[in-house]
Formats: sequence, C-alpha cells, structure tokens
Amino acid sequence: MAKGLDVGTSFIVLAQDAAANSTTDPHVVGNVQYKDFRDAFYIIKPTTPVATKMIEKGLQGKVFVKDADGSFIILGQDAIEKAVERNDSAKRPMYRGVVSPKEKEAKRVLAFILKEVVGTASTPNEKLIFCVPAQPVDQEDDDFDVAYHEDVVRTVLAEQGYAARAINEAEALCYSELEHDDYTGIGLSWGAGMVNVCVMLNGEPTVLFSTTKSGDWIDRMTAVATNEPDSVVQAEKEHGTFVIGEQNENTILAAVSVYYERLIDYTTKQLAAALLDHKALPKFKEPILISVAGGTTRAKGFVEMFTKKLAENGFPLPVKEVRHAKDPLHAVARGCLIAAKIL
Ligand SMILES: Nc1ncnc2c1ncn2[C@@H]1O[C@H](COP(=O)(O)OP(=O)(O)OP(=O)(O)O)[C@@H](O)[C@H]1O
Ligand SMILES: [Mg+2]
Repeated sequence: MAKGLDVGTSFIVLAQDAAANSTTDPHVVGNVQYKDFRDAFYIIKPTTPVATKMIEKGLQGKVFVKDADGSFIILGQDAIEKAVERNDSAKRPMYRGVVSPKEKEAKRVLAFILKEVVGTASTPNEKLIFCVPAQPVDQEDDDFDVAYHEDVVRTVLAEQGYAARAINEAEALCYSELEHDDYTGIGLSWGAGMVNVCVMLNGEPTVLFSTTKSGDWIDRMTAVATNEPDSVVQAEKEHGTFVIGEQNENTILAAVSVYYERLIDYTTKQLAAALLDHKALPKFKEPILISVAGGTTRAKGFVEMFTKKLAENGFPLPVKEVRHAKDPLHAVARGCLIAAKIL
C-alpha cells in the first residue's frame, strides 16, 4: 500500500486506495478513500481536580491529547466546536502553508494531528508522499521556511513507520488533474493560506512558486471591513449564497465578493509577472490547459472571474481551457497518492 497526504493550513487530507467492497463508504470517491481532518487545536487547562474530571467526561468520543501539565489539547473539528462553546476561537498549528512560527505549541500539535490522521504504517517503510508549498514570490524569505516545515513533517511520519517524501503541492495537483492531458499544463491550488502554482511539461515540473494571499486573506479583509470575527466571515463565505462579481444584499457576502475579485486580480497579476520572460518556461506548442483546485475555488463564479482576469492582466500564454477539478478539496491528496505509487 501507498498513501498520499495533503498537509494544508486549514485541512489535512489523507488519500489511500479504497477497499474493493467500499462502494457505500461516503469517504470514497472513484477508487480512492479520503480522510479529512481540520488542521486546528484548542487547549483547555482545568484549574481544579473536579474540573479535570468534568472536562474529561465532556471530551468522550472526541479527539484529544492529555498533556503533561494536566491540560487537554483538543484536535480537529472538535477543537473548533469546543472553542465556540466557550466563546473563543480555535488555533491553527500552520500559517500560510507551513508550521506556524506564531504558535509556540505549533510543532508539537501538528505532530499529534499528523499521527491521528495517518496512524501507523501498514507495512514497515510504507511509501507516503506529502505535499509542501513552494517559496512565495510575494514575501521575504526569512519569514518562510519550507525546509524546516518539511523536516518536521517527515520526522513525524518516519516515527509512524513511513518512508515519507515531499513533493510540491501544485505539482501533486497536476498529477491528479492532467492525467489525460500528457501531464502538460498549469495547476493552481487555491487553499486557505496560499496559492501554489506549477507549470508542468510532460510530467516535469518546470516552474514552481506560491503567493501568500488566499481564503484566509478574504476572511481577514472582510472581517476588518464589516467588523465581524474571521470565523463568522469564513462560515458565511462557505455556506452563504453569492456569486463573485455580482451584487449581494448581505453585507458580509457583498464584502466577500469584492475581496474575491481583488484576490483573483492580485493572483493573476502575480502569475503573469512570474511567467513573463521566465527562463524555465517551456515553449508550449499548443494553447495551455489550466487546472484550478482547492477550497477557495468552490465559490460560484470563480472560474469565470479567473478566466476574465487572466485576459485582463496579460497572461503571457494562449489558454485552451480553465478547468475546475471535479473534487477540489481532494485533488492534491489524490495527486500525492498517484506520486506515491509511481515512485
Ligand atoms: N464553499 C466554499 N466557498 C468558498 N471558500 C471555501 C469553500 N469551502 C472551503 N473554502 C475555503 O477554502 C479554504 C480551504 O481550502 P483548502 O482545504 O484547499 O486549503 P488548505 O490546503 O488547507 O490550505 P493551504 O493549501 O493554503 O495550506 C479556506 O479558506 C476555506 O474557507
Ligand atoms: Mg492546500
């Protein structure tokens, strides 16, 4: 067996071959089984022995770790729910695609989450491919350390018995979505923390980079504009009805729509600037296929606005088609699984 793992700022997704008789499993798409886990945690520190007992009782059936100092570290979706119950917000061990430099518990908590999601290897040195982001083109180098992040993740996975290797996130997306196009085209993964880009020619990644504005940026900017918490904005954005580029009666959604347009404008400008005159950019014989995936592409009107902004902002190659991944939240994990089987 081999496994693929998308280590994302907002979701960690495990992909593995589905069992032959798993047609009724809701987590199976095609012949791949996915496990989604919110990349979040919340710490409760009881102050009395009675509180410790009560909290432990309340956490039955939830995913948590009891820490040496007596506090409880709740993980995943349960962390978000517990935080809401206490009028608080859950935290994240990752920020903009890598282990967070802002949270002192980040590395330890990410290790707990990864172990929970991947379990132990089914055979010693089972192959596992996980994804890491590319160096951003819009941020200073010293704020962002992919190598450290990669080491942290690989070490945890090795402890669980895996022979783990990293590939780039957008490269993984290309393996999943350009399967029937000679593995030639461009993949853009629009996540929470960043947009990752890969230009691929016949299975060879030729240009890789990222930008550091995506779904979280829309939430933050809308939160400031409307004076609402980021978590409220995020929930509205994910569950409300709006179309990018169209008016909306709801103040939050109206702002979300505006910032979506700005995000797409910003990213297509960065994309055009990065590819124009890039030495490693292949000379494609035919118009190029662009695949978009990631949670941020799920909003209505995304592909239309992206296509429009590509043209407006001087994208330097003829475009054949902008194609939305069928399963935008799982495409990267699927690509990691494909890579794990080939390598
Ligand atoms: N239906 C939806 N409409 C708009 N945005 C959505 C929707 N569903 C999820 N999102 C957003 O998608 C983002 C999460 O996407 P994804 O799981 O691809 O990110 P990630 O891989 O965890 O992050 P990154 O790749 O940046 O590390 C969040 O910003 C979330 O709010
Ligand atoms: Mg991602």
